[in-house]
Amino acid sequence: MSGDHPPAGSGAGPAEGPGRREFLTRVSIALGALGAAIVGIPVVGFLLAPFLEKQSQVWRPVGAVDSFRPGMTVKVDFPDSSPLPWAGVVARTAAWLRREPDGTFVAFTVNCTHLGCPVRWLPDAGLFMCPCHGGVYYKDGAVAAGPPPRPLPRYPVRVRDGQVEIQTSPIPITT
Ligand code: FES
Repeated sequence: MSGDHPPAGSGAGPAEGPGRREFLTRVSIALGALGAAIVGIPVVGFLLAPFLEKQSQVWRPVGAVDSFRPGMTVKVDFPDSSPLPWAGVVARTAAWLRREPDGTFVAFTVNCTHLGCPVRWLPDAGLFMCPCHGGVYYKDGAVAAGPPPRPLPRYPVRVRDGQVEIQTSPIPITT
């Protein structure tokens, strides 16, 4: 006798039909997509920003010409090409600078082309050594051994008003 009507609150009445469920499902999906967009767009923008920004190239003085002895390779440090206002000491970077016997200068990045570890100059061996995975470079920056895929990048160097200047720019580490 009572089998003709669903019990009250069973969810099977006309108001709980497929139309309402589908509507609520679509609203849920739309709200989920909106939430993902609100969170995701700034994250994507942050990740893509380095590729969209114009890379700055700046000449940095690193010392007087006479302070570098011919044949010596020394580490010089200077502010990064595009330091952020809040970067503090990490805004400084470095290069290996050599004054050749003929008086010209050559500068190498300190970062290994494998995974970016700072390389050391070993004057007795005439080699750059990377402590992380054993990468070795000849004195001209060419790879001598180990995993580095490319030679040490060089910075452009010039002399202005008795000062050695290095043109800094972001250095490619891995491809
Ligand atoms: S980071 Fe230099 S060899 Fe790996």
